[in-house]
Amino acid sequence: MLKYAYLNSKYVKFKNAKVHIEDRGLQFADSIYEVVSFYNQQLIDFEFHIKRLKYSLKELKIKYVVNKDKLKKIFNKLIILNKLKNGIVYLQITRGVQPRDHCYKNNIIPNLIIYTINKKFNFPDKNFKGEKAITYRDLRWKRRDIKTVSLLANVLAKREAVRKNAYEAILIDKDKITEATASNVWIVKNNKLITHPANTDILKGITRESVKKIIKINKLQLDEKSFTIKQLYNADEVFITSSTNLVTPIIKIDTKIINKGKIGDISLQLATLYANCFINE
Ligand SMILES: Cc1ncc(COP(=O)(O)O)c(C=O)c1O
Repeated sequence: MLKYAYLNSKYVKFKNAKVHIEDRGLQFADSIYEVVSFYNQQLIDFEFHIKRLKYSLKELKIKYVVNKDKLKKIFNKLIILNKLKNGIVYLQITRGVQPRDHCYKNNIIPNLIIYTINKKFNFPDKNFKGEKAITYRDLRWKRRDIKTVSLLANVLAKREAVRKNAYEAILIDKDKITEATASNVWIVKNNKLITHPANTDILKGITRESVKKIIKINKLQLDEKSFTIKQLYNADEVFITSSTNLVTPIIKIDTKIINKGKIGDISLQLATLYANCFINE
C-alpha cells in the first residue's frame, strides 16, 4: 500500500521523504519532536502536545511558527491517506540545513517532518499486559524537559532492556529514579502514588499530566517527589505512562517481582479511566 509523509509544505510518498545530509537534526540532534497517538482516527491530547511542542521550540530558539489548526489538518489528512485506525503521528522539526558548524546561523529555515505509524495499544481489556523492566544508569544531558531527538542514552538503555527480554529500561540518576527511556514512571505504596516532579530532570509527559488530572478527580493521593531504587523494588505497584504506552503496568523489575507478578488495582483503575477518556468519545 502506498504510504504518505508530510515534508515541509508537501505530502510526499513515504519512500521519497528525504532530508539533506547537512540537516542539523542529523548532525547535531539539533531538532525536537512530538508523538501524538490516535484512536479510531481521533487525536489524543492534541492541544497539550502542541503546547509542549511550542515549549521545546522556544527553549532551543528554533524559529518555527506553530499553526495549530494547520498541523491538525495535516495530522488528520495523513491518518486518512495512510488508511489507519489506531496509531501515532510522529512530528519532527529540525533547525534546518547549513554547512556543518556547531554554531547555527540566524536565517536558517527549519525542516518539518510528519508521518504516521500503525500501532496496537495496551488497553485495559482481557489482553491487558503487565510488562518487565530493567534498571539502567541515566546517562542523558541535563535538559530532559525539552523533547529533543538527542536520544542516544535512551537508545542504549532500551537496547539493553530488550537484550534482557524486558520491555522498558527505568533510568537511575544518583540512586533516584527519573523516568524510563520513553515513558514516565510511577509507584504505588500503601495506596499512595509517587512520581518524579516535573523539572529539568524528566520530560513532563502529556499522559502524566492527564493521569494527574484523573488522580485529582478521583481523590487519590499523589506525591510528586523523587524516589529511590529501593522504593521502586518495594513498591506495591509500578506503572509507566506515555502516549504510546497509555498506562502500562510493570510487574517485574530486574529480578524483583512486583505485586506477585499481577497487575495492581490502582494501575488498572487509572488505565481504565484514562482509556475511557477517548474510547467512549
Ligand atoms: C523520556 C520520556 N519520558 C516520558 C515520556 C512520556 O511522554 P508522553 O506522555 O508525552 O508521551 C516520553 C515519551 O516519549 C519520553 O520519551
